[in-house]
Amino acid sequence: VTPEGAFGPAMASWTAALRRSAMEDMLDASALPDIIPLALGLPAPEMFPAAALGESIASRLRTDARALQYGPPASELRSFVAALMRRRGVACRPEQVFLTAGAQQGMSLLARLLIDPGDTAMMEEHGYTGFQQALAAAGARMATVPSRLDTGIDLDALERAFARGPRPKLLYAMADGHNPLGISMPLGARRRLAALARACRVPIIEDDAYGMLSYDDEPLPALRSFDEDWVFYLGSFSKTLAPALRTGWIVAPEAFMSPLGSLKESSDINTATLGQRVVASFVASGRFDDHLAGLRAEYARRRDAMLIAVARAFPAGTRWTQPRAGFFTWVELPGAVDTGRLFHAALEQEKVAFLPGPAFAAEGATPARSALRLSFSYCRPDAIADGVGRIGRTLEAARAAGAVETRDA
Ligand SMILES: Cc1ncc(COP(=O)(O)O)c(C=O)c1O
Repeated sequence: VTPEGAFGPAMASWTAALRRSAMEDMLDASALPDIIPLALGLPAPEMFPAAALGESIASRLRTDARALQYGPPASELRSFVAALMRRRGVACRPEQVFLTAGAQQGMSLLARLLIDPGDTAMMEEHGYTGFQQALAAAGARMATVPSRLDTGIDLDALERAFARGPRPKLLYAMADGHNPLGISMPLGARRRLAALARACRVPIIEDDAYGMLSYDDEPLPALRSFDEDWVFYLGSFSKTLAPALRTGWIVAPEAFMSPLGSLKESSDINTATLGQRVVASFVASGRFDDHLAGLRAEYARRRDAMLIAVARAFPAGTRWTQPRAGFFTWVELPGAVDTGRLFHAALEQEKVAFLPGPAFAAEGATPARSALRLSFSYCRPDAIADGVGRIGRTLEAARAAGAVETRDA
C-alpha cells in the first residue's frame, strides 16, 4: 500500500484495514475546552489518588534499585491481582496472571495468539471499537451477533450462529458495564454463554475493564468464574487507579503464558516497571479498598444524576439502559433521529458532546442511527444534568425544524 501521491516506502498490504474511525473525528471535535464532555469514558480526574501515588513513586525510587531497570513482571502485583480476582468469583494462581500495558494490549496479544490472518472473530453489533482495531491489526474478519438491551449479547442468535457455522475463532464479550450499552448480563445468561463457548469450542475474550466498578452491593461473578479453559479474562487498573499507569492483566491458562511473554517482549519488552511497582506499593499500603469504595460511591452518584436527567430531557418513547456498573448509558430515541446530525448540532448550538450510536457499529453491522452513548464518569452531577438537558433542547429544536430526522424515516 503506497500512500496516495507519496514516493516513500510502501506499507504492508494488511494496513489497508487500518482506517481512521468516525469516532476519532468526533473525539477531536468534542475535545474543545468549553464543551461539556459526555462523550469520552475518561475516569474522573479529581478522583485520581495523585498524592498517594506520588508517595508510592517517591518511596519506590528511594528504596527499590530495580524500579527504573528493565525487569520481569512484579511478582507481588501478580499475587495481588490473583487475590483481586476472587472478588470477581475467579479462582486463579499468580502464575496464571499475565501483566499487560492495559486491557487494550491484552486483547491485542490474545488476538495475535488466537487468530490467523483471514480467520473470523465475533463481537456484538454494538461494541468497543478498540477490539475491532486490535482484530483488524491481527488480520481478522469480523462477524457480528445482535445485542439485547436486557441481557446483552443475544444468546439465542449466538446459539443459532454457532449451529449454522462456520464458528468464529474467538468471541469478544463484556458481562459488566458494557461499552457502549451500559448493560450487565444476568447470572443465568453468563452461565449459558460460558456453557455455549465450551460446547462449541469457541474461546471467549472477556473484557472486564469496568468489572470492579459495580454499583450493586453484590456484583455478579465474571464469565471466567464459569469456565477456566474457554474464557480468557482481561482486567485493568485504568479505571480503578489511573489509565496513565498503563497496567492491566490477562488471566489465561498457563500454557499461554510463555507465548504471551514472547509476543509481548517483541513489542514492548515488559510492562512499564515503574508503573507496576507503583501500583504494587499503592496496594501494599492498604489504600486500594477505601479508594475503590470511594470511586463506586461517586460514580453511582453520577450515574443516578444522569438517569434522572435522561428521564427529564428526552421525549416519550425514549428507551435507555440502567447501568449497574461502568461509565455509560445507552439511549435509543423514538422515531428515526440521525444522532450523527444531532451530535454536530449539540456541539455547535449547546456546547455538549456525546457519541452517536453508529460510532460503535461493528464492521458489517447495521448502525444504531437513533441511539447515543452518554458517559457519566467524567463530569460532576450538576454538569451531567446541565449537559443532558442541553442535548434534550437540541433535539427538541432540531425536530421542530425537521433537521435531524433520517431520510428513511
Ligand atoms: C471496554 C474497554 N476495554 C478496554 C479499554 C482499554 O483499557 P486499558 O486502559 O486498560 O487499555 C477501555 C477503555 O476505555 C474500554 O472501554
